[in-house]
Amino acid sequence: MLVNHMRLQYSFADISNFLQARALAAKADALIDQPKFREVTASHASEGYGSYKYFDKELWLRKKMMRAIELGLDKCEPLSVLDIGCGAGYFLYCCKYLGHDVHGIDLPHCEFYRDVTALFDIPRTEFKIEPYKALPTFGKRFNVLAAHQICFNGHKTEHVWGPNEWEFMLNDLQKNLLEPGGMIALEFNEEPEIGFFTQDVRRYFESRSARILRGRVFLAGEGAFFPLGAVPSPEMQADDIPPLEPATSRRSGLETI
Ligand SMILES: C[S@@+](CC[C@H](N)C(=O)[O-])C[C@H]1O[C@@H](n2cnc3c(N)ncnc32)[C@H](O)[C@@H]1O
Repeated sequence: MLVNHMRLQYSFADISNFLQARALAAKADALIDQPKFREVTASHASEGYGSYKYFDKELWLRKKMMRAIELGLDKCEPLSVLDIGCGAGYFLYCCKYLGHDVHGIDLPHCEFYRDVTALFDIPRTEFKIEPYKALPTFGKRFNVLAAHQICFNGHKTEHVWGPNEWEFMLNDLQKNLLEPGGMIALEFNEEPEIGFFTQDVRRYFESRSARILRGRVFLAGEGAFFPLGAVPSPEMQADDIPPLEPATSRRSGLETI
């Protein structure tokens, strides 16, 4: 049963990535101050599920290490990574473990996220993302702009972002924050009755030559074509995306996202 399920969902490259993610996540976990982590979670134990679900650091480290591996961040030279809506900072902690320079953006009010990112020693800017409002700048650009399990787009409200809001954000990211040749990697949450995004939003991303795989959207910066080697697995290509153009990738070892 488990094997059948895996065959439906994953390619061999996913399985190899998963095993690698599990091993790397365990090593990254070993460097965390465990008593301090328990202290932080205990001090937020009475909070709701929004915090509680992130107490399982083994799980989240594995998931986010998988994302980092899929982007090729385990095999490239040190890059700069900005995580937009970074939450507890697990993805950035994995990137930092892999040798990258990291920064997070998240809402000001969540002390649990603030405490965990501080424990992980992840620099973080508190900022509320709103439609048609530029993100803060940092005096430098980033090779990777990531956003996982996005909520800042009005997730689960009546005002989920459409093409215009995304156009503003992507223009802002490309103009002010993305290093030429870098990558934007977005991972959407499913909306009730819509799916990950509307057809309008999907068409808009396609008009910007995005690579779309279910709820994940990848855009390469000007002058580059997926430089981090995030190339979808063959079975995903067949179903979900147009044929690949020739890659100018400096690495191509990753077959899946
Ligand atoms: C579902 S959590 C995902 C956290 C993290 N990216 C991950 O994948 O584990 C959504 C995150 O987006 C942040 N967020 C929601 N709305 C935001 C906004 N308007 N501006 C900035 N961050 C926001 C939340 O505080 C939370 O950390």
